[in-house]
Amino acid sequence: MNQHGNGDPAHYSDERILVLDFGSQYAQLIARRVREQNVYCEIIRHDLSAKQIADKKPAGIILSGGPSSVYVDGAPRCDEGLFQLGIPVLGICYGMQLACHALGGRVGHCHSREFGRATLKISDGHSLLAGLPPEMDVWMSHGDQVNEVSTDFTPLAATQSCPFAAVQHKSLPVFGLQFHPEVTHTPLGPTILHNFLYAVCKCQGRWHLADFAQATIEQLRQRIGESRVICGLSGGVDSAVTAALLYKAIGSQLSCILVDNGLLRKDEQAAVLAEFTNHFKADLHVVNAESRFLNALTGVTEPQQKRKLIGFHFIECFKEEAAKIADARYLAQGTLYPDVIESGAAPDGPAATIKLHHNVGGLPEQLGFELVEPLRDLFKDEVRKLGLELGLPEQLVWRHPFPGPGLAVRCLGEVTADRLEVLREADHIVVSEIKAAGLYRQTSQVFAVLLPVQSVGVMGDARTYENAVAIRSVNTDDFMTADWSRLPYDLLARISTRIINEVRGVNRVCYDISSKPPATIEWE
Ligand code: XMP
Repeated sequence: MNQHGNGDPAHYSDERILVLDFGSQYAQLIARRVREQNVYCEIIRHDLSAKQIADKKPAGIILSGGPSSVYVDGAPRCDEGLFQLGIPVLGICYGMQLACHALGGRVGHCHSREFGRATLKISDGHSLLAGLPPEMDVWMSHGDQVNEVSTDFTPLAATQSCPFAAVQHKSLPVFGLQFHPEVTHTPLGPTILHNFLYAVCKCQGRWHLADFAQATIEQLRQRIGESRVICGLSGGVDSAVTAALLYKAIGSQLSCILVDNGLLRKDEQAAVLAEFTNHFKADLHVVNAESRFLNALTGVTEPQQKRKLIGFHFIECFKEEAAKIADARYLAQGTLYPDVIESGAAPDGPAATIKLHHNVGGLPEQLGFELVEPLRDLFKDEVRKLGLELGLPEQLVWRHPFPGPGLAVRCLGEVTADRLEVLREADHIVVSEIKAAGLYRQTSQVFAVLLPVQSVGVMGDARTYENAVAIRSVNTDDFMTADWSRLPYDLLARISTRIINEVRGVNRVCYDISSKPPATIEWE
């Protein structure tokens, strides 16, 4: 068992695929697509030796794409010995170029760089490309390509500008795809991945979240023994699923802490408490710290300063409450796999893309507890499925994310009790209307923002000079990039009318039509 509370993933799935990351924006997507086909998949750094890779006993290896050119000095490479291990290898885009380059092919610039949709013509529809039509749409995104393969390779498919869009080695189990089977713009990509996993790698499909839950609960029980575990609750899905797993494992040895910083949404504390008490009989500590946070925020308008203060007081409140819980040895955190890869904390080191996220509302590692992180091998969509598996209610499992600093980063300018009240009411209207329109699941994050702006209006016959509220609604897969939601005009009109009529002190509503980047999802 590792130090984080999970066993080795092999304990809950004895077959796995390894993705070697060469800096692709799609490495995580590849891993998710593999797991969707019930095969456990991990992302590892590209420069592990062939022996280190073989020791992990993968059923197959996928070489991801990446932004480099294989013929440039310093381009990321893999140990070429891995092509000789007898383990199936699928190179995607840069990964394909690397495999072909290593095995006698020639890689160079394409005559015309190819970005976007292309038509793939299949010349050999066996093995990797079995069950596909002779022509299909694929998604290309490359400046280099394989221009010549050695006689050891069989071409399987081509596009108009790419003669070797899919290849297979004649004697080694090595395959290459110049296009991206993992993106939705390659509609039959899942069939290709399925062929690789099941026909080529001979996987059995043993990755199921129900088994994961059972194995994890058992491992937690063994690791924790008779000790007490503290778990912070935020109202979000990650901490709820963490608590649910722990509760199933150790029952009354679990103590949960909810810090109400006064920056929660309308009726949120009550909703979290109701969900909690309906599902757990665990010890629950609620810290009502509204005045502490609002006092600390008095006169503060600078966003980073707000975040720092909130982060500091959150940790202090948590520590003070935790100190009252006798004999606690462990602290449970809802860390997810993307956090592990992005922070470079994975045992195999960082993937190429490193996001330094401002995770205010989290806890530092040095609180004096041993960490338990039962979700650190899971993606967010898997956590949601696991939550349902563990019996948590849909409205909790599908709740939009809410930032640790809460409404403070949506209350632009000074955060006061009165301004928070205006924001809370407006936000409640926005979210209720989105839900009533049946759009909550189709949007990723929806909320109101109170602007530090007053503008002139007319209500009845009187001039008003009051607050403006912005509505933010975004659609995103990973929250790293996002697009604004194309909400129906009628819905926007209803939200606007309701806010102006029902929330005292607001006379203007705007809709935020900025994508991320360059804007961020939150306004501060
Ligand atoms: P941005 O505004 O950076 O937000 O586009 C991306 C996602 O992260 C959430 N967010 C936070 N979550 N603590 C959190 O736990 C924070 O300090 C924080 N700041 C932003 C944001 O709500 C969105 O989902």
